[in-house]
Amino acid sequence: MKRMLSGIKPTGRLTLGNYIGAIRQFIAYQDEYELFVFVANMHAITIPIDPKILRQNSRDMVALYLAAGLDPNKTTLFLQSDLPQHAELGWILTCHSYMGELQRMTQYKDKTAKGETGITAGLFTYPSLMAADILMYDPDFVPVGIDQKQHVELARDLAERFNHRYSDTFVVPQPLVEKVGAKIMSLQNPTKKMSKSEDNPKATIDLLDEPAVARKKILSAVTDSLGVIRYDVEEQPGIANLLTILSALSHEDIDSIIKRYEGKGYGELKQEVAQVVSDFLTDLQAKYHDIVASGSVDDILKAGNERAARIAYKKVAKVKRKLGLSIIK
Ligand code: AMP
Ligand code: TRP
Repeated sequence: MKRMLSGIKPTGRLTLGNYIGAIRQFIAYQDEYELFVFVANMHAITIPIDPKILRQNSRDMVALYLAAGLDPNKTTLFLQSDLPQHAELGWILTCHSYMGELQRMTQYKDKTAKGETGITAGLFTYPSLMAADILMYDPDFVPVGIDQKQHVELARDLAERFNHRYSDTFVVPQPLVEKVGAKIMSLQNPTKKMSKSEDNPKATIDLLDEPAVARKKILSAVTDSLGVIRYDVEEQPGIANLLTILSALSHEDIDSIIKRYEGKGYGELKQEVAQVVSDFLTDLQAKYHDIVASGSVDDILKAGNERAARIAYKKVAKVKRKLGLSIIK
């Protein structure tokens, strides 16, 4: 079985966009691959974050992934900061990354170009830590959004550099960028991505929103004045977005939805989307609350941490031997 790994950064509350664009895919992958999924909480501290919020987001993330169908018997789910080997290998790979390489990474480049102040050294070196997260587990594939592809490429370069300098140590991973992974747009500005860092609460659906609140958000989604239900991202981005959400959650293809809506108005479509979203959230949240109440998040993380730690311990020991860092015989 090929191995796959991905990390999720607990910087905000998960949205319906995260579910449709990412979580759903993970759930599908766990049958085909040996899957490792971890909460990348050490990446969340590259910018200031309230400890209470970090803790809450991390727990919610694990509980929501489980509620959505991630099966801890198939997938190794763990918390990055519980494995000191990530920081250890991160430092070693930082020492094998060039300043020029890290300066080319878009997140750092964009922030510096905008003249942002208070950029931490951690934000600068985080792609090396991400390379450590990946190379530690020898995955064949790393599914990421397009914005993260550059980081997986750095991990490839570092793996090749290390293997070349010290002999074969790491599998060279491949980024797996979703083909046409549905992109869910903001409900208030449907030409912009629905994002967990959005300021206007009416624009996004949080996976933990009250279903009644989510329903209202759908009913007040921005559309257009053309009055026909078609899938046209350019001319009717709001309607296209509602059709995408409906299709993703109900598994009905967009063409068939459009046929049903011939001669009908936006109001009816919104009512159906609102109902489907609200039913989806009700079901997801019931599972989420059961998981939280059962206390199983801690047990699942402990088991996942242990499984991951066995691999991480061996990998770092090997790396240290190769580098001449371990001297006791
Ligand atoms: P982010 O929330 O930007 O850290 O992204 C986490 C994962 O969710 C990535 O795989 C993204 O591609 C996916 N994702 C985030 N927002 C959306 C969205 N609006 N539509 C589809 N996928 C999304
Ligand atoms: N940097 C990724 C993000 O911002 C999260 C992440 C950290 C990650 N380590 C990873 C993703 C390793 C894939 C593999 O979303």
